[in-house]
Amino acid sequence: MFLIVSCKNIPDSKAQNLNISQSEEALYRPNFHFTPKEHWMNDPNGMFFLNNTYHLFFQYYPDGNKWGPMHWGHATSKDLIIWEEQPIALYPDELGYIFSGSAVVDTENTSGFGNGTIPPIVAIFTHHDPVKEKEAKVEFENQSIAYSLDNGNTWIKYDNNPVLKNPGIKDFRDPKVLWDEKHQQWVMALAANDRIKLYSSIDLKEWHFLSNFGNGLGAHGGVWECPDFFPMQVENSTEMKWVLLQSLNPGGPNGGSGTQYFIGDFDGKTFSLDPSFNNDLESKKALWIDFGKDNYAGVTWSNIPSTDGRKLFLGWMSNWQYAQQVPTETWRSAMTTPREITLVKNEGRYRLKFLPVRELQNYVSKTIRKNKISITDKTVVAKSPLVDFTKADIQFTVSDLKQDVYTFCLSNSKGESITFGLNKIDHYFFIDRSKSGNIFFSEDFAKNISKAPFNKDINDLDVRIILDKTSIELFYNNGTMVMTEIFFTTQPFDSFSIKANTTSPEIENMIIKQLKIN
Ligand code: FRU
Repeated sequence: MFLIVSCKNIPDSKAQNLNISQSEEALYRPNFHFTPKEHWMNDPNGMFFLNNTYHLFFQYYPDGNKWGPMHWGHATSKDLIIWEEQPIALYPDELGYIFSGSAVVDTENTSGFGNGTIPPIVAIFTHHDPVKEKEAKVEFENQSIAYSLDNGNTWIKYDNNPVLKNPGIKDFRDPKVLWDEKHQQWVMALAANDRIKLYSSIDLKEWHFLSNFGNGLGAHGGVWECPDFFPMQVENSTEMKWVLLQSLNPGGPNGGSGTQYFIGDFDGKTFSLDPSFNNDLESKKALWIDFGKDNYAGVTWSNIPSTDGRKLFLGWMSNWQYAQQVPTETWRSAMTTPREITLVKNEGRYRLKFLPVRELQNYVSKTIRKNKISITDKTVVAKSPLVDFTKADIQFTVSDLKQDVYTFCLSNSKGESITFGLNKIDHYFFIDRSKSGNIFFSEDFAKNISKAPFNKDINDLDVRIILDKTSIELFYNNGTMVMTEIFFTTQPFDSFSIKANTTSPEIENMIIKQLKIN
């Protein structure tokens, strides 16, 4: 069965007109971004680390390649890069589908689910009842728990589910739970329509309402979903702040799904915005973790040991505008590259930075360095076969930026391309995928150029590009600006060129790392 599937040519008729000769597997299956072997996937769920293994669960529909009755799929990895898919972890039941949620390692056995030998792992998720939803009842989303006594391989649902009943709110879902060391309590952040609700518990079974956050704050172009709430130390200081990641759909910065963030303080009950952050929000409305169109519902791993100390993040690399139409039939959607988050403070302002996890460096097979390249007209700086652009990590800098437009372009011999870069005249970054091959499956896919604000006082640009077969992840200036987008060319890119409109810049410190994965 698998052989037949994996040799299948791309069946979509529009794709046929695009003259695609390779199989879907060969052309579109990412080299190192997680995809399920088959069928539909959306949000990452329940991520935790235990016994040298990273666990990833995900919204999964095993009977089709569009969204359907939700299960939790499961995958494990030793290093966040190579994933092994595991049997399905949670199936829908009489209380409903298994929507997004989180998992914690209950080291002290506060839940009492433990058997005295190994700590239970407790998953907290939303039961979404499709029957009640059809009957137009409001209370169709409730929070439930399940536990595992074998390191997350198999799960037992709690007898007294749900543990947190719906108080009469239509969108009431995606519990993210953490142990709040300072206040000695479990804290749950839950998306409730246009805000988050915080709850506390001492045993993960009985939950008490603490406070609301977010009504009227930040972006509200759509329903709030999939929060993540955690303390972080400010880089190079002992200061602690609390971070709230908040996905919403629609209402993202370039249309459709997007994830904003807030920085503030938590006193064990209430999350209050840092005053500096409040000022920033007033002028900008929201701060986004990623300005590309394809990073949604991302959350962080729990139980990362303090000896490691990183905050590790993973997002769903798609957008609800077109996720169900993207031209892969066997599977649908991939996750982002796992990223490390840091919290920085510059001139009194708190910001999050995101960078690919260092483990990616273990897969570098070849490094090409170019110290200086002078750009005159459109200059090709790297080409296949010397570089395989379907698995590469490319870095370079452009110093002393001028009032100009800097365009970086990946292209192939069929004239397909993705262009991205910086408009230093009007102060924005951009990605344009309107010529990237198969864009016809959805009007929203390439309708607009994605843009991100550029601080006009910055004079140097440092660029990092992570490339896979169907994705580009851009990390500018050490991860202070991120743009993630997917694309579906009809053959791989074979050339990378750089252009400036009116000046002749020099590209410095170019490092092309070829990745050897798959
Ligand atoms: C976000 C989301 C969640 C929900 C899940 C359902 O993408 O809509 O709010 O739990 O997907 O699959």
